[in-house]
Amino acid sequence: MVLSQVKKQGYVTADLAKGKNLVKEIALLKKEKNAIILAHYYQQEDIQDIADYIGDSLGLAQEAAKTKADVILFAGVHFMGETAKILNPTKKVIIPDLNAGCSLADSAPTDKFEAFVKNYPNHTVISYINCSAEIKALSDIICTSSNAVKIVDSLPKDAKIIFAPDINLGRYVAKKTGRDLVLWDGTCEVHVEISSDKLKFLRGKYPNAKLIAHPECMENVLAEADFIGSTTALLKFVEEDKATEFIVATEVGIIHKMKQAVPHKLLIPAPANTDNTCACSECPYMKLNTLEKIHASLVHLQPEIFVPENIRLKALKSVNRMLELSVPS
Ligand code: 13P
Ligand code: SF4
Repeated sequence: MVLSQVKKQGYVTADLAKGKNLVKEIALLKKEKNAIILAHYYQQEDIQDIADYIGDSLGLAQEAAKTKADVILFAGVHFMGETAKILNPTKKVIIPDLNAGCSLADSAPTDKFEAFVKNYPNHTVISYINCSAEIKALSDIICTSSNAVKIVDSLPKDAKIIFAPDINLGRYVAKKTGRDLVLWDGTCEVHVEISSDKLKFLRGKYPNAKLIAHPECMENVLAEADFIGSTTALLKFVEEDKATEFIVATEVGIIHKMKQAVPHKLLIPAPANTDNTCACSECPYMKLNTLEKIHASLVHLQPEIFVPENIRLKALKSVNRMLELSVPS
């Protein structure tokens, strides 16, 4: 990066030099502590570049289930760290910033969810992985956006099902499977802000571009999409599809891997309703993580994720049912 670009982006050269040292320091600390860094595609680019594994929620859970590392640093949000801890009670699971939560997980408070479930006896509870350990413990099976359709379809056709907490993913799965699902009314604050009006404008501007969308987006966005899938599925689609222009309706972090995979294709991030500076959709929780915080976490092995054992054991059952029903990564 030339200095003029550096200045434009608001960095100073000292930060860059520190950034370079940080990368080396993090590599040394990982070795010293036998740590692995798992990162979601929505992480900042510099974090994705130092991760041992980058993936969607399913891939990350599968990787967490098989790691031999003593320490798992989860560069993602709190519920992802919890899932890693549920699978690895004897390992240290740390996240760079304890404030990295998730609006979707927060939309299902334990007491309200427990009361809701009680209203629907004889229902199987399928919960999207974007929920707390307590909600996982109240669920029968966990799913992610990669396998939600498959998990719902693994149940008998006449099964009564509660699907929580994402209502948009729930509606999409109900449509795909032709089932009536009892839906919890939760949303991801990032995906619901993706504006169908602004997408229409972009489609006019780029008539050859395919619109690809994450199923957490609103129904009116999904109705317009040429392809719907999890972050990994979206990445695979831009790699394999013949089109050379794509409007990408999900969190902008995924564009980094897409650009590396298909540098010759045009990738247009979908704009959010809100006026933000990058004219794209950014998850404020995912973006709390920084290289500096990762470094500090590895030095102090903090902040650490804990899940009470009674909750963990119940949550493990529902997470394991998902893993058993999923194709290995
Ligand atoms: P996936 O990782 O399943 O694509 O879900 C995206 C997301 O919102 C994670 O928080
Ligand atoms: Fe939660 Fe949405 Fe952020 Fe994912 S993108 S962590 S679902 S708020």
